[in-house]
Amino acid sequence: MLVSKCLQARDMAYCPYSRFPVGAAILTADGAIISGCNVENASYGLTVCAERTAIQRAVVEGHTQFTAIAVTCDIKDRFVGPCGACRQVLMEFGSDWTVYLTKPDGSYKKTSLNELLPLAFSPADLMKN
Ligand code: THU
Repeated sequence: MLVSKCLQARDMAYCPYSRFPVGAAILTADGAIISGCNVENASYGLTVCAERTAIQRAVVEGHTQFTAIAVTCDIKDRFVGPCGACRQVLMEFGSDWTVYLTKPDGSYKKTSLNELLPLAFSPADLMKN
């Protein structure tokens, strides 16, 4: 289901500059699925990735506990991971994420945020003793 939702979200991508559509779908701890696509901007720098669009959408809908994310783009011959900025944004909501790197045909590689962002800086590092 998560994989299918990220593929659907990719079809909604607003990417007139890169023509590189990306879709993401997040599974919340209570079983909801929230999707996102990349939303580009003529300024280029204000572009928001699919993963962060999904996170921001999820938070405004009241979700802050997540278990998994599926991400996809149009690349058919290998599994592509989220950019570094998105890995850090996912880490804000815990390190215990399953990540499904998904090809356009729906096949996927299961990995984890800990594997994608080892030795991460996280909210726990801001805790004072
Ligand atoms: N993009 C994402 O949506 N997620 C990523 O993890 C990497 C890149 C988008 C941003 C931009 O719209 C396009 O892909 C090309 O970089």
